[in-house]
Amino acid sequence: MAEKYLTIQEAMKQGKDNVSIKGWVYRERKSNKFAFIVMRDGTNIIQCVFDRTKFSEDEWKQVDSVLIETSLELTGEIKEEKRAPSGYEIHVDSFKVYQLAEPYPIQKDQSPEFLLDNRHLWIRSRKMVAMLKVRNTVLQAFRNFYLQNGFLEFSAPILQPNQSEGGATLFKVKYYKDTTFLTQSWQLYGEAAIFGYEKLFTISPCFRAEKSKTSRHLSEFWMAEMEQAWIGLPELLDSIEGCIAYIVKEVVEKNPAELEILGQDIEKLKKIVPPFPRMTYTEVLKLLKEKENMDVEWGKDLRTIEEDSLVKHFDKPVIVTNYPKEIMAFYKPADPKDNKTALCVDVIAPESYGEIVGGSQRDIDIDAMKKQLERDGENPENYSWYFDLRKYGSVKHAGYGMGVERVVAWLCHLDNIKDAIPFPRTMLRKSP
Ligand code: 4AD
Ligand code: MG
Repeated sequence: MAEKYLTIQEAMKQGKDNVSIKGWVYRERKSNKFAFIVMRDGTNIIQCVFDRTKFSEDEWKQVDSVLIETSLELTGEIKEEKRAPSGYEIHVDSFKVYQLAEPYPIQKDQSPEFLLDNRHLWIRSRKMVAMLKVRNTVLQAFRNFYLQNGFLEFSAPILQPNQSEGGATLFKVKYYKDTTFLTQSWQLYGEAAIFGYEKLFTISPCFRAEKSKTSRHLSEFWMAEMEQAWIGLPELLDSIEGCIAYIVKEVVEKNPAELEILGQDIEKLKKIVPPFPRMTYTEVLKLLKEKENMDVEWGKDLRTIEEDSLVKHFDKPVIVTNYPKEIMAFYKPADPKDNKTALCVDVIAPESYGEIVGGSQRDIDIDAMKKQLERDGENPENYSWYFDLRKYGSVKHAGYGMGVERVVAWLCHLDNIKDAIPFPRTMLRKSP
């Protein structure tokens, strides 16, 4: 064996001479004289040729019993080979089997449900690994974007006493002799902390007991959020647009190979550059009426069908502001220029991937918020700590949250949000 193991990608970069690699069997095809074993590691795949004449009877028996997912290391000469799956081939001189795999339960064309039941195995598939690499880029890019702009990463508790996004989706947790809830959003704590440091962000799990079985909802998802002092809705929109554009640019630069594995058209993503279309909710209704002959009653939230009909007309994310105040969360303030609407924003992704961002300027009027909480059947007294923030040097501020899996599903061209997270949790799935 050579001294040093290379990843498959490194070995292909070297492209000649002897290499040693470690990995798992991705495909195997054997004849009497040769075995063609495609090996896989986290970086790529490579065809490895075993010539029977080079091995003893016992060694060949081992080669012959190798099944998919067997773990092994091998050494041999690497050469360019146009016909091989990744353009290179290793002519194996020696090898060592770590574990001879049993027949692998995952075969071709298995149902999504089967793959979800076997996610602990499917997680090693090329598609899943490609998604994980894009997801990694998305998380890094969000973090870098805000770090480069002078923001501080700030973590809030996961166990929280209040709702911020509606009591109906709260997960209750037994808390000693009491109860508390799993976080729906970091926001209220971000709002508290901007009085200490004005520019904050987080990337955190969030939990919502979503009763709808859609391809867009998870019970446990990750949200990337930011909160900033001294800004209002207009500055917030620029921040959101800049961050999304940066994330897409990073994915285009860092993950062309993964996008190809996932069947995503990279040229389409290269066009996602500012400016993104911006319109108000009221303008959306007008567009839906004119271009789609759809009647949406003013005051009703946009449903999936309306969001999908809207984004058909654009190839970039659409920034929608000024939704009806009446249907918004308690912390979204009325727009002084049009007080039936709120100073809020949703960003709708292209191609039916739905709402990827929700945000707003924050209300600083305690009485108005109390009224909204009462409307929602909440006890305003539970929010006294939050109202304190409006009593000691209150300032204009704003923030947003981005659904990490929604963005990953969009950028990876996935059919279902469940494939944008390693081990999905939904109303119908809590394992493996
Ligand atoms: O629009 P939402 O509910 O906004 C908030 O929670 C704000 N407190 C955020 C803030 O201003 N700091 O959620 C933000 C985003 C949505 O746009 C969506 O992309 C995603 O989080 N999201 C979900 N993703 C997957 N599964 C779910 N059940 C989701 N609920 C929201
Ligand atoms: Mg929302």
